[in-house]
Amino acid sequence: LDFTKVMSAAVLAATTAGAAMAQESRTFEVSLPLGPESHQAVGVHKFGEELERLSEGRLTIRPQYDNALGAEREVVEGMGFGLIDMGITSTGPMGGFVNDFLLFDLPYIFTTPEAAYGFLDGEHGDALAAKLESEAGVKILGWMENGFRHNTNNVRPLNGPEDLAGIRHRTQESRVQVDTWTALGANASPMAWTEVFTALQQGVMDSQENPVPTIYDVKFYDVQRYLNLTKHVYSPAPLMMGAQLFNSLSPEDQALVMEAAAIAVPVQREASQRMEQELIDELERLGMTVTRPDLEPFRERVQPVIEQWKDTVGAELVEAAQASGS
Ligand code: MLT
Repeated sequence: LDFTKVMSAAVLAATTAGAAMAQESRTFEVSLPLGPESHQAVGVHKFGEELERLSEGRLTIRPQYDNALGAEREVVEGMGFGLIDMGITSTGPMGGFVNDFLLFDLPYIFTTPEAAYGFLDGEHGDALAAKLESEAGVKILGWMENGFRHNTNNVRPLNGPEDLAGIRHRTQESRVQVDTWTALGANASPMAWTEVFTALQQGVMDSQENPVPTIYDVKFYDVQRYLNLTKHVYSPAPLMMGAQLFNSLSPEDQALVMEAAAIAVPVQREASQRMEQELIDELERLGMTVTRPDLEPFRERVQPVIEQWKDTVGAELVEAAQASGS
């Protein structure tokens, strides 16, 4: 047996397999919490379009809207286990995997979208992505967004935190969010996104919080009377892929996936910001009473929550995020 010949045959076989892999055709299923008209869909569609173009039709996506593949936490877990290819979710459930992600639940940290973009598109966003990849097996391809979150409820307009007294408020599945709304005076409890509409409709909950385009997309105006522009957190919505799946792609295809995501992120953010502007009036037209409270009393009330969680989240990370706007 000529060892050198066997080896070069093996190398040849591996190279051929590699070349074949680079030419592989695939369709990725992508989970979205919102519907086909949402800014999440704008971002995912753009990603799909660019991926198809860059790969000359080999790589395509199939979007699955309105959490058809599962609630957000299940989708993150599913990507980690290789059961779900791709997804966009809010960061709400991610603090359960990596403490650093609780940063996005801390109130009044980012004050403008630009401050958040500067933070996420640099070393801090990269470090957060690396942690999620190593802890949960999920790769962040780009930081899309849900935007700034606001309160809606059925009980009364919020002119200050005191108006939250006795209100049953749904938070995302995050201990920081429960502490925040408890500090603000509400009766707060966590609930998965998939349960929220029914809970509001049946009066199990009086109140929730989400960005304006989300409130519009899921028709909360049918089950909530007051929209209160509390702007308490900036909510990223990263576009993600299971890390095992990403790593199984050829280096060329990995680069195409990253390039498509980099093109889609600003398009999605622009759609989200435009919808935020346009849809406040539309929600008013659909019957919601819009209140713009002074945010200072809200900010003051939640300072102890920031202090309480700062070390768990990482003091340096919190301070860098707070400094990003200035
Ligand atoms: C939630 O409130 O659970 C999320 O904001 C839903 C979403 O990602 O759109």
